[in-house]
Amino acid sequence: MARKVAVLVGSLRKESLTRKYARAIAALLPPAFEAELIELDMPLYNQDLDDAGTPPAAWTEFRNKLKAAEAVLFVTPEYNRTISGALKNAIDVGSRPWGHSVWTGKPAAVVSQSPGAMGGFGANHNVRQAVVFLNVPVMPAPELYLGNSANNLAEDGSIANEQTKEVIGKFVAAFTQWVEANAPGK
Ligand code: FNR
Repeated sequence: MARKVAVLVGSLRKESLTRKYARAIAALLPPAFEAELIELDMPLYNQDLDDAGTPPAAWTEFRNKLKAAEAVLFVTPEYNRTISGALKNAIDVGSRPWGHSVWTGKPAAVVSQSPGAMGGFGANHNVRQAVVFLNVPVMPAPELYLGNSANNLAEDGSIANEQTKEVIGKFVAAFTQWVEANAPGK
């Protein structure tokens, strides 16, 4: 059976570059992997709702999708040199209630994108900082910072730049090996 990979889209924007790259990268996964793009439009985390046993449906749906996945690919934009509120909220929602985190032990990797030159370096490392605390084995390298991102996509959403395509291809190959080597139960 194919290994399920939850591909988290760190932007809520309709025309999000993050989502376009998430799709393009997901399409490059080999058939042994089944990617599901996960949107992060959820109410802000508030522990009172978990304590009362009334979590919003969107939290429960998100948690269930993550529980069903064997691996996670974070695809993030950069907001003010860190991650978007939507992505941070999703990390928080998935980490609670205490003792029931959906993240524990799931192999993961991080992709950041930015229309600017630095490819969302700050956001990339902020994802790593949060999920290391959550006991997520994050692929250390290769790293993937997609700079100049607005100019490297074709109309149909495919990667238009040969060098970017090659770098993403290597990243995807390394990620699949990382997931195989670190999959839960190994
Ligand atoms: C940005 N942007 C941005 N870009 C960057 O390279 N470094 C940054 O720190 C920021 N900060 C920032 C803050 C906020 C609030 C917004 C809305 C945007 C620009 C950002 O990279 C650009 O809008 C991307 O296109 C956002 O990703 P999506 O929505 O296209 O996926």
